[in-house]
Amino acid sequence: MTNQVFSDVVREFKGDPSELIPVLQRVQAADGYLSSDSLTRISRWLRISENEIYGVATFFAQFRFTQPGEHIIKVCLGTACHVKGGEQILEVLKRRLDVQPGRATADGKYQLERVACLGCCALAPVLSIDEKVYGETSVLRVHQMIEERENRENA
Ligand code: FES
Repeated sequence: MTNQVFSDVVREFKGDPSELIPVLQRVQAADGYLSSDSLTRISRWLRISENEIYGVATFFAQFRFTQPGEHIIKVCLGTACHVKGGEQILEVLKRRLDVQPGRATADGKYQLERVACLGCCALAPVLSIDEKVYGETSVLRVHQMIEERENRENA
């Protein structure tokens, strides 16, 4: 967390231990994740042990402790997408990118996430890359998407 982000947080909150969750949300919104440096600073400021903060933060799936990848790939595993092969799409991406959900690839280019619904169930199976949503995907289409992105970046 930069000094600027920390100053903003100190200005926006009272410094009460009961504000832990909103403070963590605010820092993650600014940094994209909760670094160990951020947890240390929050711990000192709110007078809550780092262990306690970590315990609370790990309880909520929304918090991340590693730097997210540059592009976020969300694979929908909601009911409609699950029925239409969402798990297969996720498996292909895990193998192709060599990454587990909730993690970034080794080169930091992609972050793989599983989500419950992307809001366009009629187009199942659905995934999104950053803000763009892709409906009626398939294993073949996923390979093509990654190749097209790689070709564009290497051009
Ligand atoms: S269940 Fe996948 S978009 Fe809704």
